[in-house]
Amino acid sequence: MKGLILSGGYGTRLRPITYSHQKQLIPVANKPILFYAIEDVIEAGAKEIGIIVGPNKEQVIETVKSTDWNAEIDFIYQGEPKGLAHTILVAEDFLDDEFVMYLGDNILREGIVEHAKKFKENNYDASIMLTEVENPQQFGVADINEDGTIKRLVEKPKVPPSNLALVGIYFFKPVILEACKSIKPSWRNEFEITDAIQWLIDNGYEVGWTKVNGWWKDTGKPEDIFEANRLILDDLTHEIKGEVKGEIRGRVSIDEGTKVNENSVIKGPALIGKNCLIKDGYIGPYTSIGNRCEIINSEVEDSVVMDGAKRINAGNIVDSMIGRGAVIEKNNSLPKGSKFIIGDNSWVGIG
Ligand code: DAU
Repeated sequence: MKGLILSGGYGTRLRPITYSHQKQLIPVANKPILFYAIEDVIEAGAKEIGIIVGPNKEQVIETVKSTDWNAEIDFIYQGEPKGLAHTILVAEDFLDDEFVMYLGDNILREGIVEHAKKFKENNYDASIMLTEVENPQQFGVADINEDGTIKRLVEKPKVPPSNLALVGIYFFKPVILEACKSIKPSWRNEFEITDAIQWLIDNGYEVGWTKVNGWWKDTGKPEDIFEANRLILDDLTHEIKGEVKGEIRGRVSIDEGTKVNENSVIKGPALIGKNCLIKDGYIGPYTSIGNRCEIINSEVEDSVVMDGAKRINAGNIVDSMIGRGAVIEKNNSLPKGSKFIIGDNSWVGIG
């Protein structure tokens, strides 16, 4: 089985971070979201993976190539993001065999091995994964017949036929190419994968489904990134490699070259990357701090802090996503008052 992983699109709901940072590269527990997808696809046995890239394609290629993967990885350029079914058409030459399509912004706790097995055992033409959600209006939704077969699939319905959402991971035989060529763009002007799967059902192909039991996150919005970060940190392994003089409570991971001074407190679950400086600081639960960050005389809780960011005399910062190299600093220069240089679509909550 091959793997097709989607790492294109604009990620508009995660602006301003996504102006400069491709959405699927945003770190969750200090690892790009995309890497969780690549790991799952390799674990399910894929030896050849095609990654769809769009805006910021160089960033995705460089980041993926910075790691050794136990699979051959090709990058497939999708000019404009015209929909999930469109990515299959763009990848037509690569998709000569059955494949798993994995949206690069999805994270799934249980991996996909069992789901891939059921797709193969049942010799389905396509197989989807479903999970119960509280807000089905925000997803593709499945209507299931009494005998357990799929009646129909609808994309982001105003009145959902069930609370079973489509997870962004799909198994296909190459017949899906014909389906993608046969559908028309939707009201949002995208070639919807949901419509392509519906075409398979309408044309008598066998579409199966499996249920996801563990947690699943589509990391479309900042709250989803925080939630995914919390879920991954819940399974964090305690490991201290840096030079720690301060107090450590609970499960904490601190990487090489990081220094924590004697007046600092780190309360787990918390993750701190390489070569950081934590001086007179407090790092609270469910916080991930990237590499080369400085937290000086400041407190951080329930947050995602990316590489090279700094907090200096910055008080208590909670529920925040701080981009690479961003500095939050309180100084005593006049005139007094808050000073900002923030990008388009930024959001600042003053406590
Ligand atoms: O996450 C599950 C949901 O994903 C499903 O329930 C929906 O049925 C499915 O349509 C999809 O909905 P989204 O609105 O969340 O899809 P989104 O546009 O966010 O795209 C998903 C990923 O695919 C995202 O990482 C960007 C990438 N993408 C998207 C488009 C439209 C591309 O690479 N190219 C594209 O053209």
